[in-house]
Amino acid sequence: MHLLPSRSLQLSRLFSLLSQGERLAHRCAAQQSRLMTAEGNTAYAKFFKQQSRQELFHARVFDSTVLWLANGKAAAQCKHFNTYTKNIDRALDQGALAESVLATQVILESIGKLVLEGIDVRMERQSFGLKRIRATILAQEAKHHEFGQSELLTLMRNTNISITTMQHLSQHYLDLANKMFDELAPIFDDLGADIDSYKKRLGNEVPIALRANCA
Ligand SMILES: [Fe+2]
Ligand SMILES: [Fe+2]
Repeated sequence: MHLLPSRSLQLSRLFSLLSQGERLAHRCAAQQSRLMTAEGNTAYAKFFKQQSRQELFHARVFDSTVLWLANGKAAAQCKHFNTYTKNIDRALDQGALAESVLATQVILESIGKLVLEGIDVRMERQSFGLKRIRATILAQEAKHHEFGQSELLTLMRNTNISITTMQHLSQHYLDLANKMFDELAPIFDDLGADIDSYKKRLGNEVPIALRANCA
């Protein structure tokens, strides 16, 4: 694929951020697996363990992409992503499983999926290569996200957390995600991505019962 140098730099910044998201998901899923093992839920523990391994693989693929695109000189920082990370770490420290699944498997996975699908269309158009690996990553992300969506209500029942609390948490993480998109707008603009559409679609990825206006 031939890209303008500025576009190549922005794309590598985006992959650097995606890699940070993958490492967060890797760490989070490993901790979720430990929490589930402690609760004797071996099926969930196994799913999270496998997810954790897959996220590390995704992070390594994206790290290589950054190296390839910009010789690894494109490390990007996102203040609101760091806040998002701290929130997930706090939830995990408190053993708040339902919150961690909402923040990671439901919302963080959706952010990754939206961005990756957006880039994927462009990569395909420009014969970027890595077709099979891109398809594998997207399929694995879809499974993580489906798990989060389908199991979240069960986890809420098991942990006795109220719908109202989860609705507030859902709004809180969506607000943070929207701030991330706004903070990264210059990168998305340069790549021709539509962040308003990302924000709208992200809100629809949260289960209906957890949307704030359902209170
Ligand atoms: Fe991933
Ligand atoms: Fe994932």
